[in-house]
Amino acid sequence: MIKLKSTREIKLMREAGKIVGEVLQEMENSINIGITTAMLNKIAEKLIRRYGAEPAFLGYNNYPASICTSVNNEVVHGIPGLRKLEEGDIISIDVGVRLKGYYGDAAATFAVGKISPQARKLINVTRMSLQKTIEVMQAGKRLSDLSHAVQAYVEQNSFSIVRNYVGHGIGEEMHEEPQVPNFGLPGHGPLLQPGIVLAIEPMVNAGTWEVKVLEDQWTVVTCDGSLSAHFEHTVALSENGPEVLTSSSLS
Ligand code: MF3
Ligand code: CO
Repeated sequence: MIKLKSTREIKLMREAGKIVGEVLQEMENSINIGITTAMLNKIAEKLIRRYGAEPAFLGYNNYPASICTSVNNEVVHGIPGLRKLEEGDIISIDVGVRLKGYYGDAAATFAVGKISPQARKLINVTRMSLQKTIEVMQAGKRLSDLSHAVQAYVEQNSFSIVRNYVGHGIGEEMHEEPQVPNFGLPGHGPLLQPGIVLAIEPMVNAGTWEVKVLEDQWTVVTCDGSLSAHFEHTVALSENGPEVLTSSSLS
């Protein structure tokens, strides 16, 4: 069952989302050649707690950190550690918080120093695929219209969309119904109505869409070693159309 949110609930989710946006902004400011992903995690966790929120990922299914840091061929769920960022890397950072009983969830991919034209294009196409999909999120559309919009845009740009992981409803739980696949034919699934809140999160690979999980049981990597990017926003649909709850100046 999809739990539609009241205006009051969306207001609370806006507060949670704002913190997520601020933390992602701080991640962008902190990313530098030589910083470790563990340091980024520490900065994020401190900031989340300073805002009076809790890191949503910490302890979720025993996940050991407050953010996910996925570098280059890592798609999602990379665990922060002693890896130092190098010039030319790209890093996807996923942040989730819980505030006053409600969740916010967002991700973005950043460049470390000067990156290749292909990496730049991958980041731009992934960011744009999310933005285009948000524009489709209007009352009267169906859920799979979103899925189709992401896939079409990504494939027109010769990249591939990851199929094994999907977006999700969000609210009092981090993962609520419905699942939001990033691929599929349009015109299927539930009708979108005011009050629905979705975390839309395209994961885009430069090569094959196929992925596998590493021995740490978390880190998802591309099977062919190609680069991957990830953007995510928590988006509420109201009478006035879609509202991004996790916005920052990044996307
Ligand atoms: N943004 C991811 C998601 O929507 C975060 C999950 S990471 C975990 O599923 F560590 F919390 F599992
Ligand atoms: Co998510």
